[in-house]
Amino acid sequence: MSSLNIEIRPVTPPDVPAISTLAREIWQASYPGIITQEQIDFMLEQRYGHERLYDDLEDLHKWLDQAFFEGRRIGFAFSEIRKGEFKLDKLYIHPDVQRQGVGGRLIAHVAERAKKQGYPCVVLQVNKRNAKAINSYMKYGFTVREATVEDIGGGYVMDDFVMEKKL
Ligand SMILES: CC(C)(COP(=O)(O)OP(=O)(O)OC[C@H]1O[C@@H](n2cnc3c(N)ncnc32)[C@H](O)[C@@H]1OP(=O)(O)O)[C@@H](O)C(=O)NCCC(=O)NCCS
Repeated sequence: MSSLNIEIRPVTPPDVPAISTLAREIWQASYPGIITQEQIDFMLEQRYGHERLYDDLEDLHKWLDQAFFEGRRIGFAFSEIRKGEFKLDKLYIHPDVQRQGVGGRLIAHVAERAKKQGYPCVVLQVNKRNAKAINSYMKYGFTVREATVEDIGGGYVMDDFVMEKKL
C-alpha cells in the first residue's frame, strides 16, 4: 500500500480543542471492546482534557506532533522522556486513513528525535488486546519487553505490554 503524503507539525495552543476532539473520535472508534465506555471517558478526560494538553505543551520533556493530509488533521503522536527513557506516549490515526503508512511515518519521526538525543531505544505501552496496534508496532521494529498492569486511578487499570524499538 502506498503511503499518504502527510505533513507533520508541532501542536500549538490553538490546536488543543481540535486535538481533544480528534482523540475522542479515534478512541470511540478504537477502544469499545477493549476497555469499557466508562474507562474510555475517564482516560479521555485524564489525558486529553484541555488543561492537561496545555500543561503538556509547556513541558520541556514532551513533544506533541500532529499529522495533516491535504489540510485535514488526521492524527497525532506524543512523545516524552519518562523515567530516563524515550517514550512514544500516544499514537492515534483517524480510522479513515489508517493502514496507509501514517502511523509508520509518525513512528519514524519520533524515533529520529530519540536517536538525535542519544537514546538507545523508543519504548511504548499498548493494551494487550489491541492487536491492530501491536501488529503495527511489530511491523515497525518494536518487540515486547514485558507485561504490566498499572493502576491509573478511578478504579481502572491499564493492562499493557511494554514494547521497545532499538535505534
Ligand atoms: C495503530 C495505529 C496507530 C497504526 O497506524 P496506521 O497508520 O494505521 O499504521 P500503518 O499504516 O503505518 O501500518 C500498518 C500496519 O499496522 C497494522 N494494522 C493496521 N491496521 C490493521 C488492521 N485493521 N488489522 C490488522 N493490522 C493492522 C498492520 O501491521 C499494518 O501493516 P500491513 O498493512 O502491512 O499489514 C492506527 O491503526 C490507530 O490509530 N489505531 C487506533 C488507535 C490505537 O490503537 N493507537 C495505538 C495506541 S497504543
